Amino acid sequence: KPLVVAIDGPSGSGKSSISREAARRLHAAYLDTGAMYRAVTLYCMEAGIDLEDSVAVEAATRNADIELSTSPDAEWVRVSGRDVTDAIREPSVSSSVSAVATTLGARAELVRRQQQMIADSGLRIVAEGRDITTVVAPHAEVRILLTASEEARLRRRGVQLGGTQSAAQLKEQVITRDAKDSTVVNFQQAADGVVTIDSSDLDFEETVQAVLKVVYA
Ligand code: CDP
Repeated sequence: KPLVVAIDGPSGSGKSSISREAARRLHAAYLDTGAMYRAVTLYCMEAGIDLEDSVAVEAATRNADIELSTSPDAEWVRVSGRDVTDAIREPSVSSSVSAVATTLGARAELVRRQQQMIADSGLRIVAEGRDITTVVAPHAEVRILLTASEEARLRRRGVQLGGTQSAAQLKEQVITRDAKDSTVVNFQQAADGVVTIDSSDLDFEETVQAVLKVVYA
């Protein structure tokens, strides 16, 4: 029977690593929707598109040829057939991605593609992002909001980036970006029927277990 697990949360909440591991244990597919926003952002930057021009960004999103792995064991993203798995994690992309995320026409196009990918998975998938529980898969069997304190999120993102970022850069990447994204999607509060898991005081395994517990509840 169908098992769509929708997980939303702010940056640094551990969403991606937790969702990927949950997918492995559930023998399900995995969809990182943030990677799609990042891929469109890179596509626009390379095409010289003005990210403030919402008409151009929407058109570029429709035209963008994006492929991404839905296997939790293989992480890759391609734009126009070229591997951009690492390129989409560059700080230049992170600091521009909100421009795409706040373009409603771009969101509509990506939501449509995400819903298609969920259908193509045979409805056995863990999908994560900012609007999965509310917009992409509001009827998912399992809907979780993964949160963590600001302190925990800054610490985790710092570790993830290998301690290469200053405190100010981390704040820009985590807090400022979430504030920008929050103007179009509400991922700070759980919608009706969404279970909140606060991972501030949980380690990786404990958080995975908390997710699986909701799945099997
Ligand atoms: O790096 P982090 O985990 O914070 O974010 P991500 O999951 O890689 O997503 C990157 C960006 O894509 C977010 O900051 C949002 O602007 C956007 N996004 C979105 O708007 N909706 C989603 N469902 C997923 C990501």
